[in-house]
Amino acid sequence: MSILKVARMGHPVLRMRGRALEKSEIRHPLFQKLIDDMIETMHEYNGVGLAGPQVHEGVRMFVALLAEDPDSKTDASVIINPEITPLAGSREEGWEGCLSIPDIRGMVPRFTDISVKALDREGRNIELRLKNFPARVAQHETDHLDGVLFFDRMTSMQSLTYLEEYSRFHAKDDD
Ligand code: NI
Repeated sequence: MSILKVARMGHPVLRMRGRALEKSEIRHPLFQKLIDDMIETMHEYNGVGLAGPQVHEGVRMFVALLAEDPDSKTDASVIINPEITPLAGSREEGWEGCLSIPDIRGMVPRFTDISVKALDREGRNIELRLKNFPARVAQHETDHLDGVLFFDRMTSMQSLTYLEEYSRFHAKDDD
């Protein structure tokens, strides 16, 4: 496996819409290697999610840690061609960061209860019900597939903070 280079904000690949994947492509050994490399890259940089465009691959897939408890040792989920349906109308503000926007945090409104239809790494249809933080992660990563970054979703820039100041002043607000 290899650690991949992560595109940073300003790289045009982060603003492109990724293309949907065919089931036959998903099973290709090179695509399976990309999945494993993305999982390794996400862990290397202590991320909770990493989307194809962030590693210069313009495809609709992401890897993420989608357990309710962020400290639990669950395996990374592989989500391909996701379609998100909100199951509750309300959004809640919460802190987000992004491996493509290093060392910055900001508050972003997201739906707290969603359903995600997608394909898994074997190309099988899956449907996940996600709430709270995992729902937030899935919405953030799916946005990457449409060229959207979390700054675009912020309703105010007032919460923007560097990671060091986040740890000093804001980490205690975190759920
Ligand atoms: Ni991100």
